[in-house]
Formats: sequence, structure tokens, C-alpha cells
Amino acid sequence: MKVLVIGRGGREHAIVKKFKRDGVTEVFCAPGNPGMREATLVDIEETQVAKLTAWAQTNKIDLTVVGPEMALMAGVVDAFDAAGLKAFGPNKAAAYIEGSKAFAKRLMEKYNIPTAAYGEFNNTQVEEALVFLDEQQMPIVIKADGLAAGKGVVICQTLDEAKATVKDMLTGASFGEASASVVIEEFLDGEEFSLMSFVAGDQFYPMPIARDYKRAYDGDKGLNTGGMGAHSPHPLISDEDIQMALEKVVKPTVQAMMSEGTPFTGILYAGLIKTAEGPKVIEFNARFGDPETEVVLPLLETPLATTLLGLLAGKEVQLNWLNDQTVGIVLAAKGYPANYAKGAVISGLEQLEDVDVYHMGTELVDGEVVTNGGRVLFVVAKGHDLAIAREKVYTEIKKIDCDDVFYRSDIAGNV
Ligand code: AMP
Ligand code: GLY
Repeated sequence: MKVLVIGRGGREHAIVKKFKRDGVTEVFCAPGNPGMREATLVDIEETQVAKLTAWAQTNKIDLTVVGPEMALMAGVVDAFDAAGLKAFGPNKAAAYIEGSKAFAKRLMEKYNIPTAAYGEFNNTQVEEALVFLDEQQMPIVIKADGLAAGKGVVICQTLDEAKATVKDMLTGASFGEASASVVIEEFLDGEEFSLMSFVAGDQFYPMPIARDYKRAYDGDKGLNTGGMGAHSPHPLISDEDIQMALEKVVKPTVQAMMSEGTPFTGILYAGLIKTAEGPKVIEFNARFGDPETEVVLPLLETPLATTLLGLLAGKEVQLNWLNDQTVGIVLAAKGYPANYAKGAVISGLEQLEDVDVYHMGTELVDGEVVTNGGRVLFVVAKGHDLAIAREKVYTEIKKIDCDDVFYRSDIAGNV
């Protein structure tokens, strides 16, 4: 069995490790990162669709998993399908559920899937958008329609800020084409959780839920980031909440995609918020979440390749999950998510015991691991409950020696 993982971050490292743990002998990652010792790296970028397809054909790859949304929106799955290769992920038409916030909102509206009330405006409708804002309550959420590397969402506290943000987005100042349209959305208050499911057509198999800590500093202070820590499951969300999310969100969404003629095969990630009226959708992603994947996949006992190949063949699959819980902490470069330096030497990694270390942004220089990104490493521990996993991960992360990094000390602390 030969598998290929497309992407280069902690999420892809977790997928690579899972394949290795399952006993897959040949695991490739394009382009991968130098911390992925378990994989053979392939020097092709995520969106170089023709090169990836040709390489996978030449190397007779049995199964490909696509990590990042940019690759999906570049049509990598369409190209693999056309070449008769098996790639697990949505084609471009289905990936629009993440690739266009307006597409997702219209789908939810049409099929009565609970989400925040919204308005949609394009760059010829700046005045209409400003009038709409006058009628809304603050805070309010402004979202660039297209992909903006996780940065296209701004929560505005005042009307002035909201108007400035809408003008800035619609004139293309900060996000270019991605904000040629915007979604203006009601602010929802409540506990957030991430619910990922393996999906093939109208079949779906949920994973344990996870919680992602988005703010940079303890106590949810500081700027939004790509995620500073995560745990699975999320004790503030009950089994009833999860059942409701599956019934009211996941099931109708996969059915809606079928009805629209754009059936979804891949990982459907629902970003949800538990409101007084039940769970509502804040976003859909068309792929494994990052860093959720790093805390969820270690709990999957069933081999991943068997699962994904089964789903691609239209078969029913059986998933077994460990009864354990996981906590993961991101080690980030000082200054992240604003300006930060690269190139600081990281030592002590070989002393860590009984944890998984996923590389997010590292490089090898003269045989030494050095920082090479905002989020550098993700350390994950497993235990019978969150408290045990938390204690373990914080004990082990202290063994990592690097002058130029920081991490939150309150991940899984208030559950
Ligand atoms: P996204 O890029 O869609 O994941 O949004 C980033 C973050 O913004 C989410 O994780 C939420 O914390 C927040 N957010 C997005 N939409 C809303 C909303 N309607 N109400 C409250 N918070 C939101
Ligand atoms: N953790 C959020 C995401 O993967 O987009």
C-alpha cells in the first residue's frame, strides 16, 4: 500500500503518523515538512495539481488524502478522479461549502440548517451593505466570502468599525479577490465545538468532537490565531448537543449537497456554537481541521486507509474509537500571530516520552531542528481523562528547550 498526503502542517503530520501506526509501509507527503520523519517528502506544492497527478500516477499511489482547502479549491481531487486515482476529499464543486461563505450560507438557508442570520453583499453593493449595517445590533461578524487563510473573519464591536471593515473588504484592500463579496453575520454567543465527519454521499460517520483554542494568550486574550491548543472530547458539550448537531446540521447538510447535485465525499468539518436555541453553524470546512485532527486521529483505532478506501468504494464502514481523551498544546514563535522571528534552535525533543510531537513550522539546519513558522510544534498527550492527558502534556512540553517560543498554560484547564 502506498499513500500520499498533500500538505505540510501539523494536521498532515498527524495523518502521516496515523498511516504509519496502522502499518502502512510507504507514506509520502507533498511537500511535507522536515519534521515528518515517518514520511518520504515529495517536492511538489499543494496546488501544483498537474504535477501531483503525474507523480501519483508514475508512483502508483493507492490512496491520497488532501489536507489544505487551497488544494481542494485548485481542483486536485477532480484531477485525480479524471486520472483514475483514488483521492479522499471533495471535488471543487463540493469544496465550495468551505471555499465560499456565501455558498454555505445560501445552502443552510435553503435547507433550514441552523446558523446565524446574515446578509450577502458584493463590491457593487457597498452602499447597501452600509445601510444594512445601520439596522444591525453590535457586535457583528464580517466575513470575506472566499478563502483568506483563516484570516477573513472580523468581529466588530462598534458600527464604525463594522463599516470600515466592510469598506476595506469590498474594495479589496486586505484580502483582494477573496473579499469581492462579504457575508455580514449575526454574532452568536456560546461554547464553540468542532464536529468532523467522514462523509461519502449521504453516508456519514462522526468523529469525537474537539475544542480549538483560537486566541493567542491565556484566558482567551490576544489575537485570533490558527489555533493554540485543542482537546477531545469537549466536556462542556453534552451527548445530547452532539446528537442535535448530527440531526440538525450534519445529516441535512450531506443530504443538501446530494440534492444540489454536488455530493460531498471527504471530511466535513462543522464549526458549531452552542446557543440557547441549540447548536448553530459558524463555518463549514471541507477537510480535516487543524489542530483538531492532531487530537482526534490518535483516538481512531480502525485503520485509516481501510476506512477511506471503503468509503470511496461506497461501502459501509465500522469505526472504533479509543475510550481515551487527548490534550494538545501549540508551541508558537514569540510574537505570533503578528511578526515573529525564525531560525531559533529547538533542543530536547528526544527527551519527550509518551506524547506525539507534530511539526507545524520547523526546518532542519545542519542537523538541528529550528523554528520556521508562527506555529512551530504541537505536542499531544493521551490519557484516560483530560486531567491526566493535560498533566502529561504540560510535563513533557517543559522538556523542550527553545528561547524564542511560547505556549498557553490554560489549555483544558477549565473543564
Ligand atoms: P472562521 O474563520 O469562520 O473559523 O471564524 C473564526 C472565528 O470567528 C470562529 O472560530 C468564531 O470564534 C468566530 N466567529 C465566526 N462567526 C461567528 C459568529 N457568527 N458569531 C460569533 N463568533 C463567530
Ligand atoms: N481549526 C479550524 C480550522 O481547521 O479551520
